[in-house]
Amino acid sequence: MQTFPQPENTSTITEKSYTREDWQTGYQSLKQEFDYWIEDIEGEIPPELNGTLFRNGPGLLDINGQNIHHPFDGDGMISRVTFTNGRAHFSNRYVRTPGYVEEQKAGKVLYRGVFGTQKPGGWLANLFDLKNKEIANTSVIYWGGKLLALWEASEPYGLDPQTLDTLGKDYLDGGLAAGDAFSAHPRCDPSSHLDGGEPCLVNFSIKPTGLSTTITVFELDTTGKVIRKHLHSVPGFAFIHDFVITPNYCIFFQNPVSFNPLPFVTGMAGAGQCVKFQPNKPTRILIIPRKHKNRKIKTLETQSGFVFHHVNAFEQGNEIIIDSVCYESLPEIEPGADFRQVDFDAIAPGKLWRFHLNIEDGTVKKKLIESRCCEFPSIHPQNVGRDYRYLYIGAAHAATGNAPLQAFQKIDLETGEKQVWSIAPRGFGGEPIFVPRSNATAEDDGWVLAVIYDAEHHRSDVVILDAKDLHRQPIARLHLKHHIPYGLHGNFTDKVFVS
Ligand SMILES: [Fe+2]
Repeated sequence: MQTFPQPENTSTITEKSYTREDWQTGYQSLKQEFDYWIEDIEGEIPPELNGTLFRNGPGLLDINGQNIHHPFDGDGMISRVTFTNGRAHFSNRYVRTPGYVEEQKAGKVLYRGVFGTQKPGGWLANLFDLKNKEIANTSVIYWGGKLLALWEASEPYGLDPQTLDTLGKDYLDGGLAAGDAFSAHPRCDPSSHLDGGEPCLVNFSIKPTGLSTTITVFELDTTGKVIRKHLHSVPGFAFIHDFVITPNYCIFFQNPVSFNPLPFVTGMAGAGQCVKFQPNKPTRILIIPRKHKNRKIKTLETQSGFVFHHVNAFEQGNEIIIDSVCYESLPEIEPGADFRQVDFDAIAPGKLWRFHLNIEDGTVKKKLIESRCCEFPSIHPQNVGRDYRYLYIGAAHAATGNAPLQAFQKIDLETGEKQVWSIAPRGFGGEPIFVPRSNATAEDDGWVLAVIYDAEHHRSDVVILDAKDLHRQPIARLHLKHHIPYGLHGNFTDKVFVS
C-alpha cells in the first residue's frame, strides 16, 4: 500500500503530491454494470458493520466517445456497497432517465447539459434549445422505504434498493408536482421537536421566477409523506446547492451571483456557464423558521464568497452557528475549456469557516477553522442541527494551496486537534461518510467509509477507517474489480440490501 509521505511531513513537501495524468484517469467512464461479492480485501471488515452504503456520481464522461463538457453533466450512476456479517457486496446501475436511455440507444449526445455539454453541430444546433438533460447524478438517499436518486433541478428518481432498477420519477406521494425540483442535499433532523421527537427529512428546491427566486421547503416524516411545505420568494437570482437546519430554522446562503441567459439561449454556452460571481456584492444569509407561527424570513449579510457545502449548524443563545466550506469566488466553466486540463494552482481552495449569526442584532462574524483545501464534509447523523464536536472531510494532501482531494481529515472542534490520512501520490478521495457503531456513546465511535481511486491500478477501493484514529491505516481496504469515476454524494443506511 502507498503511504507516501506521512501527514505530519506534508507542510515540508514543495513538489506536487499528484500528477494531472493520474487525476485525469479517474474521470474515465465506467460503462459496465456489476454485481459481485468483494473478495480482494486487505484487513477485515468489522462484523458489526452491517448496512448499505449508497453513492451517486457521474458514471459516463462520454457518450459513445463524445466527451461531455463537465462531470456535472454526466449520467448518474448508483454504486451500492452492502456490508453484512463481515462480507461486502458491490453493485452499480445507471439511473435510467429518459435522457440516458435515449442517448445510449442513439449512441450520441442528444441533449444539452447544464454545465456546457452541447449537441454536436456547434451553436446553431443548440440555438433556442432550452431543454437540459435530466441526469439524477448528485446524491442518493434511502428514506421512507424508498431509494431516491437526487439532482437539484428535477424531481427525484425512485430506484428499487434490492435490484437498483429505475422505477421512474417519484412525486413523494403527491408532495411534489410535475416539474418540481427537490435538492440533492436533504438534511435529516434526528429528533424533530415539531414531530414529538421523531426523525424528519428536510429538503428544499430553488426555482428562478423572473427577478426573484422561490425557495420551497419540504419536511418529510419517516414514512416519506410531506408533512410541511412552505414557499418563500426572495429577491434576485439564487444558485443555492446546499443548506443547513437547526431544530427551529432552515438557513440558506444566497451567494452573490448574476445570471445572463443570452449565451444559453443562443446556443453558445450551457445555463450553468451563464452564472457569474459578483465579488463586490455581499452574501445574503436567509433564515427561514421551520415552525408555522411567524414564518417570516430574516436576512443577514456577510462578505462575498461562494459556498457549495455546509457542514452543520446549531443554535446557541441568540446565535446560529454554521460551519461551511467557503471559496473566494465561484470558479467559472469556460465554454471552450476542457475540465481535464484544469489548473488547480490558479483556483482558490475551499476552506472551512465558522459563522456566528446573531439573530438579535443581525451581525455576522466569521472565523477560519481550517485553511487546508477541503470539501465534502460529514458528521455523526445524530448531531445534525445540534452542537457537535467532530467533523470528517475530504482534504488535499498538502497543508497549503489548491489540489485534488487526496486525503481525509478529522477535526476536533473542541480541542482543535486534526488528524489526516493521506492516499497521495496516486490515490484520490472524495466524500467520507461517518457511520456510528451501534450502542456507541462516544461521538467518534464508529467508522468512516469512503470510495477512493487508485491510479496505480486504475481501480477504486472502499476503505473502512477507524473514526477515532482516522490518521491510521484503514481497518479494511476492499479492492473493487474496476474503477468508479469520481463520485459526488451518498448516504449509509443500516438496512441491508443485496441482490
Ligand atoms: Fe453537493
